[in-house]
Amino acid sequence: MPADIPEQSVGQPDDVSGIGPDSALPFPLSEFPQLGFLNRLVDHPRVTIGDYSYYDDPEGPEHFLEKCVKYHFDFVGDELIIGRFCAFATGVQFIMNGANHPMDEFSTYPFAAMGRGWEAGFEWPTDHRGNTVVGNDVWIGREAMIMPGVTIGDGAIIGARAVVTRNVPAYTIVAGNPAQIVRQRFERDVIDRLCRIAWWNWDAEKITRNLSAIRGMDLEAMEQATLK
Ligand SMILES: CC(C)(COP(=O)(O)OP(=O)(O)OC[C@H]1O[C@@H](n2cnc3c(N)ncnc32)[C@H](O)[C@@H]1OP(=O)(O)O)[C@@H](O)C(=O)NCCC(=O)NCCS
Repeated sequence: MPADIPEQSVGQPDDVSGIGPDSALPFPLSEFPQLGFLNRLVDHPRVTIGDYSYYDDPEGPEHFLEKCVKYHFDFVGDELIIGRFCAFATGVQFIMNGANHPMDEFSTYPFAAMGRGWEAGFEWPTDHRGNTVVGNDVWIGREAMIMPGVTIGDGAIIGARAVVTRNVPAYTIVAGNPAQIVRQRFERDVIDRLCRIAWWNWDAEKITRNLSAIRGMDLEAMEQATLK
């Protein structure tokens, strides 16, 4: 646990709430401080992260922005948007649009960035690949790299060391460089129903009440729960 983290930021093992970890705490597990809830650790105007989404890193999840979000420059203006209940393994890399040098000139050298007069006449292209969007309940494996402008659907899995260059549909497993589809996790109908149920938007009490249905893949029970 970092020395400067106050005790009230850390979940206690004797917490008897019974509704899972406290999503308001940056370090929900005192016995596993390398895991941190990102929206309690990250404060950036162009990074949005939903509750319970975590980063796991023995060097400290509080270093997520500097270690994992690269070339995210203010003057580009692109956003990183992450849903709820995502799990990010150590070394995930979000490459943002600022990574790309000009490619439609005779040189790719970043003259404008060097300044001292070389910035004259340069305008940052506005036709970049757009925001990076990660859905809900997405698991990203160790050292995977997500390239600019990619959207990853709800429930997707990104394999260790994958390089994701294209959008990933919901509940799809991808791996490799460039990342290719390994398989769909469920039948199309099941995926559609899971996306409609969107259990990740339920509050902690409701998730707790229905955890056996979520973990036990009881779709009917989950659908019933949406009606209550
Ligand atoms: C992607 C992953 C989830 C796939 O698991 P799986 O569904 O059990 O897949 P399999 O092991 O049956 O492999 C299916 C195919 O994908 C390939 N594959 C699996 N993971 C791969 C990876 N990370 N990179 C490249 N190829 C991969 C396999 O070689 C296999 O290819 P084949 O069909 O040509 O033989 C898993 O391999 C993975 O990368 N998990 C991430 C682990 C991690 O980083 N954990 C960090 C702590 S949370």
